[in-house]
Amino acid sequence: MTKVSLAINGRQIEAEVEPRRNLADFLREDQFLTGTHIGCEHGVCGACTVLVDGSPARSCITYAVACDGAEITTIEGLEKDPVMARLRAAFSQHHALQCGYCTPGMLISASDIVTRLQQADEARVRRELSGNLCRCTGYVGIVAAVRAVMAQGGAAAIEARSRRGPVGAHAASTPSSPSRSTRTQPPAYAAPGGEVRAPSSVTVEQWRAVETQGIELVQSIEVAHSREETWRFLSDLDAVTRCIPGARLTTAPQDGRAQGQMHVKLGPIVSAFAGYLEVEREDAAFRGVVRGAGSDSKSASNARGIIVYTVKPLSERSAQVDITVKFLLTGALAQFSRSGLVKDVADHITRMFARNLEASMSGTRDGAQPDHATLDAGALARAAVWKRIAGFFRRLFSS
Ligand code: FES
Ligand code: FES
Repeated sequence: MTKVSLAINGRQIEAEVEPRRNLADFLREDQFLTGTHIGCEHGVCGACTVLVDGSPARSCITYAVACDGAEITTIEGLEKDPVMARLRAAFSQHHALQCGYCTPGMLISASDIVTRLQQADEARVRRELSGNLCRCTGYVGIVAAVRAVMAQGGAAAIEARSRRGPVGAHAASTPSSPSRSTRTQPPAYAAPGGEVRAPSSVTVEQWRAVETQGIELVQSIEVAHSREETWRFLSDLDAVTRCIPGARLTTAPQDGRAQGQMHVKLGPIVSAFAGYLEVEREDAAFRGVVRGAGSDSKSASNARGIIVYTVKPLSERSAQVDITVKFLLTGALAQFSRSGLVKDVADHITRMFARNLEASMSGTRDGAQPDHATLDAGALARAAVWKRIAGFFRRLFSS
């Protein structure tokens, strides 16, 4: 058990919690704040959205111990909030709810939208709400209610809030207590001014954290080419990068080093990571290690990863590439780490990589696969998301 101290709806709480207890269960079962609903428990549906230090966060994928020193606001804590009063009236007037299951999370996200944007067209409101799912309404009433509150010219009347947007979307603030300094993780990779640093500037402790705490993926790919041919192809950093959906090099490789970009879309967050790769190869063992680190200023997220690959012979004309990937996310995208969604997307990207690798080595790439630069990595995420959404709806309808 770990002792945490946090404020919930303005009330200071001290509690002993298991390190694995998520904030949603802590709020519902330990604090009896059942206004926070739980749908998918994977960070997809948004039903469990609460405010952490004033920013919307998915409480089902946030550990309670990670909120030590935080201010948590649930739907119960917004009873007298002027923005929420307007939204409640508008939701009622525009028939923006039926069963009401999604409504607490929807209202909290809606309050973020109207205070952060103040004005937005329908398409923008729908995009902003895309992280909250509703099985009943078809969203028409919800969008109308949000826009109605915006149209009230609320910017002046509504209490101003500066720290809205998803948790992690803002630069880390000055820590106000030791516990908070561990919770708001400063960018680990981006240098001041957004300059991209080489992985060698990432500290030993940070690489060790990737190895000990990172999400691990293990995959084996069979290719219809000899071990030597496969090993040679893998030495071409540019060609290999072009096999990764959404990735491209932005500088020519030099001595096994290069800079690149990777586009990722997870839930409502779109990220374009700029980063740096370093490759070490052991020819005798047919083994390579790639270390990469990047950051995305838009979502204030950082990623570090280590890929180890080994090429084994299967026959004279075929080989197996064993790949182990370990990666760690911090910032806004880290919300999704526990959900398995990140793993799904990474798994999907690995499968696409295997297909592109085989096609590129066989010279059939152009016919088999569109140009990597135009490949929508977000579509991969949506495919993974959809499986979880379908499961979420199945469970709700069968309950
Ligand atoms: Fe948390 Fe669905 S229950 S996002
Ligand atoms: Fe949204 Fe029922 S009103 S899920």
